Amino acid sequence: VTSFDPDTVLERLSLEEKASLVLGSDFWHTAAVPRLGVPAVMMSDGPHGLRAQPGHGDHVGIGGSVPATCFPTASALASSWDPGLLAEIGAALGREARHQGVSVLLGPGINMKRSPLCGRNFEYFSEDPYLAGELAAAMVAGLQGQGVGASVKHFAVNNQEADRLRVSAEVDERTLREIYLPAFERVITAARPWTVMCAYNKVNGTYAAEHHWLLTEVLRGEWGFEGLVVSDWGAVHDRVAALRAGLDLEMPPSLGRGDRAVVNAVISGELDPEILDVCVRRVLRLAQQAGQHQGQPDSAASAAEEEEHHALARRAAAASAVLLKNDGPALPLLLPAGARLAVIGPFARAPRFQGAGSSQVNPTRVDIPLDELRTALPAVTVDYAPGFSLDHGEPDAGLIGQARSVAAGADAIVVFLGLPDAEESEGFDRGTIDLPAGQVQALQAVSGLGGPVVVVLANGSVVSLAPWEHHAHAVLECWLGGQAAGGAVADLLTGAAAPAGKLAETIPLRLQDNPSYLGFPGDSHVVRYGEGLFIGYRGYDARNQEVARPFGFGLSYTTFEISRPAVSVRGSVAGGDLAVDVTVTVTNTGGRRGAEVVQVYVEDPQSTVSRPVRELRGFARAELDPGESRQVTVRLTQRAFAFWSELWRRWAVEAGEFVLHIGTSSRDLPHRVGISLAAPSLGAPLTRDSTLTEWLADGEGAALLSGALHRAAGDAGVLADTGLVRVVGTMPLSTLANFGFPGLTHDLVDEVAGQLKR
Ligand code: BGC
Repeated sequence: VTSFDPDTVLERLSLEEKASLVLGSDFWHTAAVPRLGVPAVMMSDGPHGLRAQPGHGDHVGIGGSVPATCFPTASALASSWDPGLLAEIGAALGREARHQGVSVLLGPGINMKRSPLCGRNFEYFSEDPYLAGELAAAMVAGLQGQGVGASVKHFAVNNQEADRLRVSAEVDERTLREIYLPAFERVITAARPWTVMCAYNKVNGTYAAEHHWLLTEVLRGEWGFEGLVVSDWGAVHDRVAALRAGLDLEMPPSLGRGDRAVVNAVISGELDPEILDVCVRRVLRLAQQAGQHQGQPDSAASAAEEEEHHALARRAAAASAVLLKNDGPALPLLLPAGARLAVIGPFARAPRFQGAGSSQVNPTRVDIPLDELRTALPAVTVDYAPGFSLDHGEPDAGLIGQARSVAAGADAIVVFLGLPDAEESEGFDRGTIDLPAGQVQALQAVSGLGGPVVVVLANGSVVSLAPWEHHAHAVLECWLGGQAAGGAVADLLTGAAAPAGKLAETIPLRLQDNPSYLGFPGDSHVVRYGEGLFIGYRGYDARNQEVARPFGFGLSYTTFEISRPAVSVRGSVAGGDLAVDVTVTVTNTGGRRGAEVVQVYVEDPQSTVSRPVRELRGFARAELDPGESRQVTVRLTQRAFAFWSELWRRWAVEAGEFVLHIGTSSRDLPHRVGISLAAPSLGAPLTRDSTLTEWLADGEGAALLSGALHRAAGDAGVLADTGLVRVVGTMPLSTLANFGFPGLTHDLVDEVAGQLKR
């Protein structure tokens, strides 16, 4: 355990040493200052498994890394809607990091899924900021509980791979506040991550690495972040500008260049030495924090721990699967002894269980679905044929013929479909959400030849179902389920585990329906977020669009009923402490144990600003035996009712009616409870340039104006002329004074504006 006092060390450092500390010393380490006892801090990817590279490293997953447990990726874990599970996985990642002497894990990634095409969606949680924030906060808490810091990334608005190192994401402030920042805000305020990683891209014209508003005003000023900001690997363009913006540590270091720039800038007076000191102090604090928790690497994990983590990965993969369809029900497979199961698809033998790029883990072992099925069904004959090739997407007549022979007369047919690495990875975006044609043809060819057809999907981001789901009785979406996904699939198909996952992203009918379709991925180094707040279900719902499966959807092997909704309101908007508790009873009405996720969406039907139809603001998961009932309570805070007011530049709740929608998906919301909230009037800030309609809509403004007109002209009747007001109401008072509106002079306008109490 190393211990030193950052302030004392800071005083003793030379300018050159300070400059060396705000850059790394190699690919994965901060710089050490041995003469003052400051150790180097080791960082490693990644979000769903450790990618520790003890030697010289790289950041695109080319070089090898030490074996580590590969857990399901974020899009899978998010589908569990289970913060407790995320915390367990965070803790397991922390234990593995500690064994390797890693003090900071570069994850989780919490960018929003603006488009299903983003090549890195498998590393991100959701299209919904609330869900992403809750899950990521739990994961960070679990990780940091082990004394290993998190690095939530990529801050901010990194939602595509196309041109990711240069593109400027053009987003209005309300959309930033309500969609692209809240997951970060939640993790930072609730779980206090040690570090935040800035994004590669520009935000409204400024590199995230040089974005003072993001890195300092919002992150530190408003959210109280006290940790360190590290660059994404290679995101720094101007080291001095980045320091001024609040970027503490550049990784990997542009050695020689970056430190020289910093020293020269201080000597020439271009950089205030105080600013450098602030960043150096944060690096020292990180080194101190790491040193407090980290002894020497305690070498490899024990065999027992490796076993435990594999079992956790298996449980997590099962909890992450979403049952999208189950006609019959085809699942679970209840095959008698002597039955025959046909398994089709190369993923059954060579599973795709993680994504490519910087998050790629060298797994401790990999469960093979075909072997796991054979083990789980010892009295059943399990025959296999590939049916299609992963080397290309085209139909292969020879493979299809073989698959038909294997499927013919089988008691059940399980077809493993999905996206190969070549279709989805860090570094590029997809061009389609369709499965390769060869896979769809193979499915079509075997359906109807035997018993029920079950499709098992492996993909990091949504694929369209519409072109092929009618060939399948059941569809189980397993995402990229980590190294134990094969075992989990066997558990789910045979009923040893029950699916309980819910979609964390909408599956559209067609890519063209996605709200970002016309604005993704932009061109000429600019991407305009024209859909604004309306990403994901917010967009589909606003346009009342049919989708293949809605956000929040997921079937189970049992059935549930949600009943007796009750709502209690405490605190007040004015006091800033509004809290609304929504309580329901959940009952397992079917014949098997299972879990349901109660989801609460808030609608503001009377808003004066454009708002999404309804938004997820709370959820609770209940695992129940057949016949069992439990009460669950979801607490909504004031923020659940608020929008970001562009006029006032703050969060605001408008007085009036709100509707709480309670159910089991964004489109299955059987319970509606109305509540009425009192709140201070928002109104528009009234000035001489506010319109006549705005003055008349404001109680105080209307009274002042009418009184002044009475005094000046003996009559304010013109204000009651609704026809006239409708025509000229959009004009500012100052303009109306120019136009000679009856009785309204510039002096009178100044007088009433001066009389306003606010
Ligand atoms: C990725 C980060 C990653 C870093 C280090 C970058 O290319 O965007 O997510 O943590 O490399 O590997």
